Amino acid sequence: MPSAAEHIGRIIDAADNEQLRFDHFMNEALYGAQGFYTSGVGRAGRRGDFITSPEIGPLFGTVIARALDAWWRDMGRPHDFHIYDVGAGPGGLARAVIAAQPDCLAGDVSRYVCVEIGEAQWKTHPDGVTSMKSLPSGELRGVVLANELLDNLPFRLLVCDGTWREAWVTHRAGAFSEVLYPLSDEPAFALPTKPILGARIPWQQAAGEWVSDILSRLNGRLVVIDYAVPLTTELAQRPWRDWLRTYAGHEKGAHYLRNVGAQDITTDVCIDQIIAPCGQPDSVRSQSQFLQLWGIDELVEEGKRIWNEESARPGLGAMKMRSRISEAEALLDLNGPGGFSVLEWIRLRE
Ligand SMILES: C[S@@+](CC[C@H](N)C(=O)[O-])C[C@H]1O[C@@H](n2cnc3c(N)ncnc32)[C@H](O)[C@@H]1O
Repeated sequence: MPSAAEHIGRIIDAADNEQLRFDHFMNEALYGAQGFYTSGVGRAGRRGDFITSPEIGPLFGTVIARALDAWWRDMGRPHDFHIYDVGAGPGGLARAVIAAQPDCLAGDVSRYVCVEIGEAQWKTHPDGVTSMKSLPSGELRGVVLANELLDNLPFRLLVCDGTWREAWVTHRAGAFSEVLYPLSDEPAFALPTKPILGARIPWQQAAGEWVSDILSRLNGRLVVIDYAVPLTTELAQRPWRDWLRTYAGHEKGAHYLRNVGAQDITTDVCIDQIIAPCGQPDSVRSQSQFLQLWGIDELVEEGKRIWNEESARPGLGAMKMRSRISEAEALLDLNGPGGFSVLEWIRLRE
C-alpha cells in the first residue's frame, strides 16, 4: 500500500500545475489514504502522540457530565437528547461521561455519538456509543462537543513577504516544498496589517464553515474547546513555529512538509475567524473558568474526602478519587489546558 507521502505525491503530480493548496495537502496528510489519523498511527492519549484534557484522566469528563445534565434540564429533559462528541479520538471523553452516569443518558448510552473520522480509533470507543465518521444530516438535537477538533481541521496558510500570499505545495524527487501565490479570494477576517518579517497565519476557512454548518441545524448547544487566540493578528506577531505545530510520540515533530502521515499538524485557533461567518458565541470562557463553573472544585473536595476515609486500605475507587487532585491541577493550569478557550453557542428551536 502506498505511504501517505507517495499518495500525496501522486495527487500533486496529477494536479493542474502540479501543486496542491496547503489545506488540501494537510487534509491528505492527516485524513487521506494512510494519513496520520486514518492509518491508526496517530491519536491522543498516553500511548498516542499528545495528551488532551480527557486523556489526563476521567475528571474532565465527570465535569462535562454535570454540565450536560444541566443543559438537558434547561431544554426540558427531551427524550431524544443526543451528545455528539466530534473528533472523539480514542473515546476518553465518552468513557468518562458514561462512567459518571448523567441523567441525560439514563438507560440509553447509544444517544452518545462518537464522531471520529479516523476509523482506526473506533476500537477503543466504549460500549454502547454509536461511532460514525461524520455527523448525521438534518437537525442535531442536544449538545455538540468539539474538544481539540478545530485546531486539527485543515487550514489555508498565508505568508507575508511584503504582501500576503498563499502557500501551495509542490513535489520533486520525492520531497515536498512550498511555493507562494497571490490570494485567489479574500478572507472574511481582517488580514493583519503589521506582521513581523516572514509572518505566517492560518486561514481557518474549514473550521469557520464547520461551526456555521452545525449552528444552521442545531437544536441545543455547541461547545468548542481549544487552544485559541482572540485575534489572528496575534499570530502574525509571533514566530510561526509557535502556533503551527507538529507532534508525534509526545515530542515536537518535524517541519510540516516532512514526515508526512507520521506526525500531527495543528494550529492555534483564531476566534475572530471562527465567528466571522456565524456570529458571536453566547459565551467565551477559559477552560479553567468553565470547569469551575461546573463544579470541578467540589469534585476534588469529594475526592479528597473519600481518599481520607479509605486511605488506610485504598481500593481502585479511592485511588481514582485521589488522582482528582493532580488531574485538576493539570486541567486548571492557565499555562496549559486551563488557559484554553471554551466557546458556546445556544440555538433552541421549538
Ligand atoms: C486532537 S484530536 C482530539 C481527540 C479528542 N477530542 C480528545 O480531546 O482527546 C482530534 C481528533 O479529531 C478527529 N477529526 C478531525 N477532523 C474530523 C472530522 N471532520 N470529523 C470527525 N473527526 C475529525 C481526528 O481524527 C482526531 O482524532
